[in-house]
Amino acid sequence: MRLDRLLSNLGYATRKEAARACRAGLVTLSGETIARADQAVELELVRQGALALDGEIVDPPAPLTIMLNKPAGYTCSHKDVGALVYDLLPYRWRSRKPALSTVGRLDKATTGQLLLTDDGDLLHRIIHPRTHSPRHYHVRARDSLRGDEARLFSSGAFLINGDDKPLKPAIWSPETDNSGVMILNEGRYHQIRRMFQTLGNEVVTLHRFQTGGLALGDIEEGQYKVLKDEDVQRIFL
Ligand code: URA
Repeated sequence: MRLDRLLSNLGYATRKEAARACRAGLVTLSGETIARADQAVELELVRQGALALDGEIVDPPAPLTIMLNKPAGYTCSHKDVGALVYDLLPYRWRSRKPALSTVGRLDKATTGQLLLTDDGDLLHRIIHPRTHSPRHYHVRARDSLRGDEARLFSSGAFLINGDDKPLKPAIWSPETDNSGVMILNEGRYHQIRRMFQTLGNEVVTLHRFQTGGLALGDIEEGQYKVLKDEDVQRIFL
């Protein structure tokens, strides 16, 4: 891809600004200065971190998939009032083409693993009901558990108040008197919160820590990491 187009697609500069940066000797590929903005650059080299702008390694080109540890209070939306998950990413990423989107959503109050990608096929594969990767959540409830949650949630007949279609079986493993791990095989609006509300309880904290075989790991809250191909494959294990 032409260097000026690439830098513009990655949100660093307009094509004009990219040309100016080249003339100023600010762009290097594998340590060599690129003087012309119309020079073609191998995307694989960029992916390996060989392209630098003003001494800083340039971001990976598309397809890009990242895993963010979402703090509470951030909304999964491109435009909404208040803090958005995109505020946690480099500002220039707002101008990336193709655009980065969240893979499904977490509620504003929910924390933990949030995947974002600019790869539309991958996004659909992850959220499609047929290939839907199980999501693992740690749940803490306001009141003590009743004891029959696991049986009810796994029955395939559990109806959330207000829904007319029963839930697919979900796996609930209690850990303490008022907390446990939930594994969901579908993603309905506010699903876990509404499941507990239906039983007269209330979710006080909700944290997603795994999708398929891909765990959040030790990413600090508010931080993200760029996923490698093998990480992405783990989503489907
Ligand atoms: N279930 C919920 O209620 N909220 C989430 O964010 C995810 C699952």
